Order: sequence, then C-alpha cells, then structure tokens
Amino acid sequence: MCGIVGYIGSDYAKEKVIDGLRRLEYRGYDSAGIAMPVSGAIQITKAVGELKNLEAKISDPAFDAPVAIGHTRWATHGKPTELNAHPHGNMDNSIAIVHNGIIENYQELREWLAEEYGIKFKSETDSEVIAHLIGLYYDGDLLDAVNKAVEEMRGAYAVAAMAAAEPDKIVAVRKDAPLVVGAGNGFNMIASDVPALLKYTRDVYFIENNETVVLTKDSVVIYDENGNEVQRDIQAVEWKADAADKAEYDHFMLKEIHEQPKVIQETLLNRLNPDDSIKLDDISMTKEDIDNFNKIYIIACGTAYHAGLVGKMVIEKMTKIPVEIDVASEFRYRDTFIDDKTLFIAISQSGETLDTLAALRDAKDRGARILSVVNAVGSSIARESHDVFYTLAGPEVAVASTKAYTTQLICMYLIGLYMGSTKGTIDKEYYDFMLKELKDLPGKVDRILLSEEKYKKLAERYHFNDHVFFIGRGLDSGVSYEGSLKLKEISYIHSFAIAAGELKHGTIALMDKDSLVVALATQDRLYEKMVSNIVEVQARGAHIIGLAKEGKTEIEKTSDEVIYIPQCADEVAPVLAVIPLQIFAYYVALEKGCNIDKPKNLAKSVTVE
Ligand code: M6R
Repeated sequence: MCGIVGYIGSDYAKEKVIDGLRRLEYRGYDSAGIAMPVSGAIQITKAVGELKNLEAKISDPAFDAPVAIGHTRWATHGKPTELNAHPHGNMDNSIAIVHNGIIENYQELREWLAEEYGIKFKSETDSEVIAHLIGLYYDGDLLDAVNKAVEEMRGAYAVAAMAAAEPDKIVAVRKDAPLVVGAGNGFNMIASDVPALLKYTRDVYFIENNETVVLTKDSVVIYDENGNEVQRDIQAVEWKADAADKAEYDHFMLKEIHEQPKVIQETLLNRLNPDDSIKLDDISMTKEDIDNFNKIYIIACGTAYHAGLVGKMVIEKMTKIPVEIDVASEFRYRDTFIDDKTLFIAISQSGETLDTLAALRDAKDRGARILSVVNAVGSSIARESHDVFYTLAGPEVAVASTKAYTTQLICMYLIGLYMGSTKGTIDKEYYDFMLKELKDLPGKVDRILLSEEKYKKLAERYHFNDHVFFIGRGLDSGVSYEGSLKLKEISYIHSFAIAAGELKHGTIALMDKDSLVVALATQDRLYEKMVSNIVEVQARGAHIIGLAKEGKTEIEKTSDEVIYIPQCADEVAPVLAVIPLQIFAYYVALEKGCNIDKPKNLAKSVTVE
C-alpha cells in the first residue's frame, strides 16, 4: 500500500523523506511525490516509477527546505500517472496532502466541491478531495481545517497535510490506516510504518484511530476526536536501524529466510521461564478463562492464514477445544457463532490488514476474547486486541512472508502448550517432549539452510514448469498452501495446493508429464498414505519432488528428487518443511528474473478491502 513520510526540523527534509520512502518501498508503489515550501509557496513534485526519478527532479538546491511530506503511491483510483501521484494540492497549491487509504464518498464530495465551489480536479484519485476540503475550510489554522475536512470524509485514511501559510507545521490524522510519529532532537517525523523512521529515531508515538497530531520541529501534540489534547508516552522501538537493511544479501527475502534460526529462537526463548513454563508476554489467561472457552476462531489472510491452518490442528489437539479457521474476508460475511465463550485469534504480520482488523472488531463487539499474534509493535490489530502475543521476527521487508510465518507457527505451539497445560489436556511428559522439539528447531533450520545449493539446483532444473502442484496430508497440507503461495507470488508460475487425499476427486485430471508435483510426506502416521498418493500422480507422468524426514527413504522409489528435513516430531515439521520451499521459490523467481522483493500487483500491507 501507499507509504507516507514527513519531516520537520532544521536539516534538508527531502533527503530524510526520500530515505524514509525508500525504506517503505516494500509496501509496493508505482509513483512517488514530495511537497515542500519553496519561496513562500508549496512546491509539489511527482514522478512515475522508481524513487530515483523523483530524486532527480528535486536535486536542485532550491528544494533544500527543512520541512516536507512525501508519498509512494500504489494505484487504486486512477492509473499510475504523475497527475494521480501524491501529494495533491488544492486549486492554488496553498495546501498539500498525502493520503494512504480510500475515501469511500469521494464521488459525492467531488460533485459537491465542483458544483458548489467550482473546484476543478486535476487527478482521477479519491485523495484529491482531501486537499480541496482542507483548502475550503482553511482560515489560517491548518489543524482546524483538517478537523473540519475529516468530518466530511468516509473511509479509511492516514493523511499528512501542510499549508503554505504555516510552513512550520505538519498536521496528520488517521482512521483505519497506520500512522506513527518519530520523535527526535530538534526534528520530528511522521510515517506509515516504523522502518521509515529507524535511521533517525527509535522513539515513536503510535497515533490511534480518529486522532490528529500537530508536528513542529520541537513539538508533537496529539488530539483526540473531540479536540482534547492526549498525553501519550513515547515508545522505544527495539528494532535495530540495520534490521531493515539487506546486509550482504541480494534480496530482503533471502536475508529474511536466513534470519529464521535466530528469530525462531528469540520468539521461543523469550517466552520460557527458567523452569520451562511458558509466559505469554503480558497475557493473563487464567485456567478459569480457558475453561470458559468452548470454541476458538483463528482468522487471518494469506501466509498468516496458512500459519493458522497449522495452528488449528495443533491447538485443537492440545486443548481439545474445537478450532475453526477462516480467511478474514470470508469470515466477515458469514453467520458465525461468537459469544463470550469464544476465543478469537487474529494472526497478522503487519497488524494492519484491513479484513483481519474488521473481523476482529466484529468479534470483539460480539463478546469474544481477542488474542492477536502480530509482528508490528503498536499496530492497529495489536492495539485493538485484549491480548497481544508478538512474533519477535523483526521487520519483514520482502513482500513474500517467510520469517513472519515460521515465528507465527512458534506462537501457535506456545499458545497450544500454554492453554493445554493450564487446562490439563496435555500431560507433563508431552509438554516436556514438545518443548525439547521446539528448542531443537533453530539448529535444525540452520542445517536445512546449509543445503541451499541443492534447492537452488532444483530451481534451475524445474523453473520452466508452467504448472506446479503442492500436495500433503494433515499438517503437510497447510504447508503445501504456503509453499504454493510462495512460488506463485514471486515467480508468477501457476501453482496449486491441495490436500493429497482430495486429488482423486478431480484435480488428478490435470496431471500429466508436464506437471511438477511437490509432495510433502513429513507426517509419520500419514506417510504410507502419502506415498500412495505420490504413486497415483507418478502414474500420470508427473515429475515429483518429494519432501520427507531423514530416514524415510521409501519415498525415493516414487520421486524424481527428494528433499530431506531433520527428524522431528510431526507437530513441528511444518517449521522445517517450509524452509526448502521458501528457498526453492526464491531461486525459481531469480532464474526467471522476477522482482523478488516487490512482486507485481502485490503490496506488503493490505489496508484496503
Ligand atoms: O500483514 P498480514 O500478515 O496480515 O498480511 C497477510 C497477507 O497479506 C500476507 O501474508 C501475504 O499473503 C503475503 N504476501 C504472503 O507472502
């Protein structure tokens, strides 16, 4: 989605804003722009394509202002053109705004502004109405004008605005789109996401829904929707400044794949007391609370949903509570059975996915207890949940999620073990066994990463395939969905995942000598059944890459290639099985020359429906 960065201080604002926008590139964009006061007027500069096109246009020292707001746009309303790029100005550019989100009533507002006030629109966007509304209400007080404009707007927005007559301030407002302020010494910044700020400050204020904030170079004042000043503590973000750099890797995705042993370890070990009991951060879920739950819903989108597929099976097994899993965009429009005996688990890396957030709000209104598993500290989903359990994955920049997924899985195990041991549905022997299995994971992931060259060779051999199928049973079917998503989203190869037992009910009709089948067979009790499924597709001429635990060599008879993962309990096999699939997808995309970190048509954080 779009990225917003604003800076106000004494330094060259354009450098900070461009640098911040570059750190938000992972959100996806097709054009960019910047507004700054130059010689008493607001100068708006825009460029289609990469940020360097914009940079070239503002290299002149005339653009050396100490305040600027910038934006990277991901086209929704109107094509990716310069006119549609942000910032947008009012008629005489005395006001400039950048916007992330969607103004739902923009058509109505456009007609009203055009008919009543003769306003001529320069772009096709929904966002431009915001600049004109603020311009209409502006009477020397930008804060007041923004507040009045917001009253007319419906939809989701994070907006940063500036006025030519008040070049010493930026005013920003948010509703259902993220906004964070970075507080510095002699400067302040505003952005849609923390990585944009990390190079300059780690002291942040998370802006809440319906709040407005006024930034000058020396102050940050936050107001609630009634105009009352809000006292908010600064939060120190622990992410390191270089956490959002590529280091020695060619792509963020590869770097993030290699970070998995470390982040799995951190997500796990930070939650274990010296006696190996689990502490779920600040979550106080008592035995009474857990006994009260008669159902659990896990709701998420994309990769987070795939982590939930594993979570469902694991938590159900450990707690003996029925667990339903659904994608948020479906769940929202279903007739569900939510009440005060429901535990609702939302999983989200960004914590800003609109569908997940909307489902959460609905469940909360209906009395469910909300536990979110989130990576981005202070994000909307985290703030609106009763309890938050953070995946300690650090910033995930590549659009294709990797380390967020494996740390989400760790959280699923910890939640299951915590609830099961508190409720008494698992015994000490099983608990100790599972903890040992979990603690062994970082070392085993390290071992898998040592075979990177092998997965690369497989990618070189199979990247010509136009159709790839991922099959598995039990927990492997959940991992199949994730392996398939990784491949399709970064290499654009058509791939399809299916529970292996379902093959013969239709999909097997597609199998022929041009099909590549990645067959996951890590589940001991389903191994033989899985081998039978592999035989079925082999008989239709498909090429097979089998994936099994070391020692399970039977699969070699029916596969063209076999990937082995270290021996482990079936429950934790998804954490290991997904790593070769991530690397395979990465190298296939590399072979095909794709834009790995920023695949076409995709954005990191999906803050629209
Ligand atoms: O930030 P979230 O975890 O809520 O995002 C959910 C999906 O949009 C996300 O996992 C998406 O599917 C990724 N591109 C997958 O790699």
